Amino acid sequence: MDLKTDWLKSGFVTESVEGIEDIHEAFNNLKKEKNAVLMAHFYQNNEIQDIADFVGDSLALAQFARKTDADIIIVAGVHFMGETAKILSPDKTVLIPDLNAGCSLADSCPPDAFEEFISKYPDHKVVTYVNTSARIKALSDIVVTSTNAKAIVDSFDEDAKLIFGPDRNLGNYINSITGRNMILWDGACHVHEKFSLEKILELKKDNPDAEILAHPECKKPLLMVADHVGSTAALLKYSEVNTSNKYIVATESGIIHQMQLKSPNKEFIPAPPNDSTCACNDCEYMRLNTMEKLYNALKYGWPKIDIDENIRIKAVKPIEKMLEISKALGL
Ligand code: 13P
Ligand code: SF4
Repeated sequence: MDLKTDWLKSGFVTESVEGIEDIHEAFNNLKKEKNAVLMAHFYQNNEIQDIADFVGDSLALAQFARKTDADIIIVAGVHFMGETAKILSPDKTVLIPDLNAGCSLADSCPPDAFEEFISKYPDHKVVTYVNTSARIKALSDIVVTSTNAKAIVDSFDEDAKLIFGPDRNLGNYINSITGRNMILWDGACHVHEKFSLEKILELKKDNPDAEILAHPECKKPLLMVADHVGSTAALLKYSEVNTSNKYIVATESGIIHQMQLKSPNKEFIPAPPNDSTCACNDCEYMRLNTMEKLYNALKYGWPKIDIDENIRIKAVKPIEKMLEISKALGL
């Protein structure tokens, strides 16, 4: 079977790995042969996190992609993470296991509409969350992640006029902790918006010793009851150094794997979503990635991230600016 033609036709990767007995060994051998590295986001399944050369949040993945000397970077995450890696390392081949691994938050910000939106505020600087397409980054003055958003917004003059997009929840949160009044694009992540405050409070009643950890993409009422709000990396760090032995985790449940590895004696409870019929605290885009797709992507060099060079040149500037400030701050 010509797998590559198959994928080109269908737009996504087949999972067929005929004749492979040990997929982990086969993948590692291929990685060595092709001088490739696998970087994985904290929301990947445990198997992928465990085989990855590097596991991190969005900021750490961008930093890793920029400095690796591998020829091929395989990004086990979602499409915008692959794009960010390619923008920063244009001479490297960047592979993602499944082209359908998108992001509802990035999709909530179509470039043409965003361009029209920002054109109404010509005297404003445009700050965008990394969960966006390359075209949105190309329209931005600076990119942020949830690890550095506060510090980067703080780095602007007090009277600077700012637009923030696409996440309204993160934008509102940053406004509240910086005292800014950024104009917000009305986007959101479907996973983080689905957590049920009511069920989380019930869970807290049954587990009064548990602390609530929440990602800033969650809605405001949940952030108000959280004991700690932060990026995936910040929540992981907090769960490691804090003295509580129990946590209710209001972000994608993949992060619990690293929390449990770092703190084997602590208990981590995934926060319940408002819809009990689905595993809504799993990001279905992140979870499209499988070991088999990773292996095939590396074997056939597909799906590959390609970015129009005119867009890349514009998009790299706000990302580099973010990395510069993060480095200066030790992030
Ligand atoms: P982090 O940068 O905190 O890892 O968040 C990425 C993300 O997609 C959250 O939904
Ligand atoms: Fe995007 Fe939400 Fe999935 Fe993060 S959890 S990748 S913001 S859809």
